[in-house]
Amino acid sequence: MADQEETFSRNGTAARRSPSPRRRRAAIVALAALVAGGLAASLFASASDPSSAATKGAAGANGRPVGASATLVEQGKQTFRFDTFGDQAFWGNTLHLNQAIAGAKNGGVGPGLSPKTALALGLKVDVNPIPLPVRQAILAGKVNLNDPAVTLLLLKLNAVVGVKGFFNAAGRLSSVGIECALCHSTVDNSLAPGIGARRDGWANRDLNVGAIIGLSPNLRPVAKLLHTNVATVKKVLASWGPGKFDAELFLDGKAFQPNGRSAATLIPPAFGLAGVNLHTWTGWGSIPYWNAFVAVLEMHGQGRFFDPRLDNARQFPIAAENRFGHVNPRVDLVTSKLPGLHAYQLALAAPKPPKGSFDPAAAARGKKLFNAQARCSTCHVPPIFTEPGWNLHTARQIHIDSFEADRSPTHMYRTSPLAGLWTHQKGGFYHDGRFKNLRTVVWHYNVIFKLGLTLKQRSDLTQYLLSL
Ligand code: HEC
Ligand code: HEC
Repeated sequence: MADQEETFSRNGTAARRSPSPRRRRAAIVALAALVAGGLAASLFASASDPSSAATKGAAGANGRPVGASATLVEQGKQTFRFDTFGDQAFWGNTLHLNQAIAGAKNGGVGPGLSPKTALALGLKVDVNPIPLPVRQAILAGKVNLNDPAVTLLLLKLNAVVGVKGFFNAAGRLSSVGIECALCHSTVDNSLAPGIGARRDGWANRDLNVGAIIGLSPNLRPVAKLLHTNVATVKKVLASWGPGKFDAELFLDGKAFQPNGRSAATLIPPAFGLAGVNLHTWTGWGSIPYWNAFVAVLEMHGQGRFFDPRLDNARQFPIAAENRFGHVNPRVDLVTSKLPGLHAYQLALAAPKPPKGSFDPAAAARGKKLFNAQARCSTCHVPPIFTEPGWNLHTARQIHIDSFEADRSPTHMYRTSPLAGLWTHQKGGFYHDGRFKNLRTVVWHYNVIFKLGLTLKQRSDLTQYLLSL
């Protein structure tokens, strides 16, 4: 975890990808102009330029940190945090999301996206690239968080987690792309709610992906792909809510469960996955499989992707029609990054719960129940908390419906790894958040497996789950 908190500026590779010193300084000057009164002058005078310091930092002759495997993990970290895989061609150039973010006053359309609205939509701000005086100004309430121009400056500083702004020579936001960190990172709120140091791998359960995509001025390409109209696309996007995304929508066009609830699933964490065989709620494949899938088919990055299972037109009508299982562009910005991404995700351990967040004595009793009477460990095998081996189950085995399982080639549900559960309680549990809290998850198992756990035992088990 300490590694994740490492500063952006201490890192050679990050510096290379961060805005040029000239741009950064320009952004700082402009931000200073927004800060009230005499603070502005001192702001510019004292604003350090972390990128130049970092370029001189500990790096080998090739500009990368020394040490082979450390390099791979480090590359993966940069990819995870800062790589769009060229997906700005979709989010910016096609959907024109950049115009909605900028707003009419800044060369875009509509009111623009203010930092206040961005934070309310669950977007997070990395405090690291923000110069100290600006942080102080934010704390003192002297930065106008209702002004979309401030959002643009944060983008210029590369401070909006998982979102990359592209600016033209005139300083206009010409395009925008998304990064893995958008959904799989949060911040520690150390400066203010939504603003702090990055926490890579944490599921962003505040993020309203549907509402953000819904801001796009041009949703016609999405409507066309799904053989529907823009109004319907908007309705679907609005149905997701915070912490959810539907990775299968672009494959099967299914937006709602038979019971009328949204078909979107919760964003899972991207930490604690070492030793876990199959990934995603429904076990689509390995980490490198899913990373390629997401980068190409969901983020709309530019890269190769191969999966003939998507040729099944009955299960995946949209994917089969568009040959999503055979994506082969001339330029591949994804495949070469898969080794690093894989290494980085394996290196992300699940964070330990803070002291005082659970009752240790109750958790110790709960642990015994987990491994014996409650039979949890028959599937959630410690310490990986999923099966060593083929970690899938039918819907019937866990007594739920098979709707989401049937949207995967496996037609099954993957036994969720449980470490770090405490970090993603918002939005609920199981793939679609059907259980509001851990207490109701335990209640479900007590009923379906006739475990005969008393109220106190169920509470102990819940405390154990919170301790993982
Ligand atoms: C728009 C939000 C979003 C973005 C961006 C995103 N993911 Fe995900 N990720 C999800 C959702 C939702 C799932 C669950 C999908 C499912 O099961 O259908 C998921 C699943 C995963 C999993 C499986 C976790 C597990 O428990 O097995 C991994 C690993 C992962 N994503 C890594 C990445 C990487 C790497 C990137 C960048 C290349 C990325 N994701 C980009 C939303 C996102
Ligand atoms: C038959 C195998 C099996 C057994 C036994 C089992 N689980 Fe699960 N568990 C699963 C599967 C599969 C899922 C994923 C369900 C989904 O994605 O909807 C899951 C999901 C969970 C989740 C939700 C994780 C998340 O991120 O939302 C929790 C918590 C959990 N199980 C705890 C337990 C506890 C506690 C027990 C014992 C009382 C237990 N499980 C017994 C297979 C099992």
